Amino acid sequence: MNRYTEPKYRTINDAKENELDQLQAKSTSSTWKPAYHIHPGYGLMNDPNGLAYFNGEFHVFYQWYPFGPTHGMKHWAHVKSTDLIDWKRLPTAIVPVEDYESHGAYSGASIEVDGELYLYYTGNIKYSAEERSANQCLAIMDKDGAIRKYEQNPIIEGVPEGYTGHVRDPKVFKKNDTYYMLLGAQRSNLTGAIIVYESSNARDWSFKGELDLDLNLPDTCYMLECPDYFELNGQDVLVVSPQGLEPEEHAYQNLYNVIYVHGELDIENLTFKVESHHELDKGFDFYAPQTFEGKNKERLLFGWAGMGEMDYPSDKEGWAHCLTIPREVDVLDGRLIQKPAKELKKLRTEPAKGEFSLSQGTTEIGAGSDQYELELSLESIEAEIFGLRLFSSETEGLVLEFNRSEQTVTLNRENFAETFGGEYGFERSSKLEIGESVDLQIFVDRSIVEIFINGGETVFTSRVFPLEKSTGIEVFADRKMMGSFINHSLIAENLL
Ligand code: FRU
Repeated sequence: MNRYTEPKYRTINDAKENELDQLQAKSTSSTWKPAYHIHPGYGLMNDPNGLAYFNGEFHVFYQWYPFGPTHGMKHWAHVKSTDLIDWKRLPTAIVPVEDYESHGAYSGASIEVDGELYLYYTGNIKYSAEERSANQCLAIMDKDGAIRKYEQNPIIEGVPEGYTGHVRDPKVFKKNDTYYMLLGAQRSNLTGAIIVYESSNARDWSFKGELDLDLNLPDTCYMLECPDYFELNGQDVLVVSPQGLEPEEHAYQNLYNVIYVHGELDIENLTFKVESHHELDKGFDFYAPQTFEGKNKERLLFGWAGMGEMDYPSDKEGWAHCLTIPREVDVLDGRLIQKPAKELKKLRTEPAKGEFSLSQGTTEIGAGSDQYELELSLESIEAEIFGLRLFSSETEGLVLEFNRSEQTVTLNRENFAETFGGEYGFERSSKLEIGESVDLQIFVDRSIVEIFINGGETVFTSRVFPLEKSTGIEVFADRKMMGSFINHSLIAENLL
């Protein structure tokens, strides 16, 4: 069958003279570009890929289309760091020039094998705008950082019977001397599934079958993307990005959503006994996260702070999206707890500290910075409705509002000159147990905010594109509330 052509399917090797420099120059002056969040120099970033602590360094790869804020020919871009703080850009890791990856090197994960880092990815193939197939591929990074494509690619050609061309995003792990690969898939009846391959050497793979995952997702779920799996404190956790879920009261409010599933995996028998599943992040912009093992065997997570099928204000500057900060995850009573990775403390400089006591109204607790970490504790709360406004000025503000009688928390990003994504609503909410105190840890980095509530039980990741003057931080309450805060300004000039 003939392959599909469209201008957006070209690689950086086809860039015209000076084209890449011009793309870089266009986006450099942006005031929205994050400093300490991994973001593209130009073009569009999406999923984190191949995450690893390998040979003494952290490696983050990500989906990247160089030529604009469009989902076009995806490459694997590459950054590395020794401390999760200072990132250095490296040459593009995977440029899809081969027939088996003719329409992009799609997402995947990595695992260390015999002292080398195996990077698994999906070679995307398109026959027309609608028809596609997929090959699973391997690239290998050696100890010196040299990356080569495996000469016997693809390691899995095409898709197994019973599935459409939507089979992608390999996650490989090892159990009892066998390597297993999880893949997100779509059944021929257009419902989502996870399928499994196995291998004794991480290079030769055979199809094992479909994972029996009793999630009870509605039939509207047409695809499961980006499966991730890990074992923590003796418990199994599967993270997956289902597409096609309908919004429920406080869940699945984005076009695409992410869930984690807690239970027991018996990979030999292809079963995952589900004990519970929950949404992973409650914000507007979060998708396709991946986890990996850090320096001290802790479980770290990066997510894509973005959403598909949506225009963002930075598009006009020629770049789109960023990743979340690295988060350390833990499992407590079946709940996934997310905390900012400890390494981020190194970014802290002179803190501003303060206390406040409100009877009714609003008080300002900071202004002037667009890169900070705010630790805020709200105490002796008698108020029914209380919360805070970030990125605040006379005309703008991101509002996080707690409602005690409803036991909910809501994030509203309607009040900005640059609104976006309104077709999916301007509010996201979550149930939350609200007593007399609430703890918050908030990371702001120009156009991204990550809000960790009560020790990371509930997290909201969101993009906002404020005016430069909108830097105020205000606290409000309809009755009595006291509190204290520490505002750390964070100094970083990463990845310009
Ligand atoms: C998720 C996703 C993956 C795919 C990649 C392509 O955002 O759709 O399933 O591999 O993006 O960029």
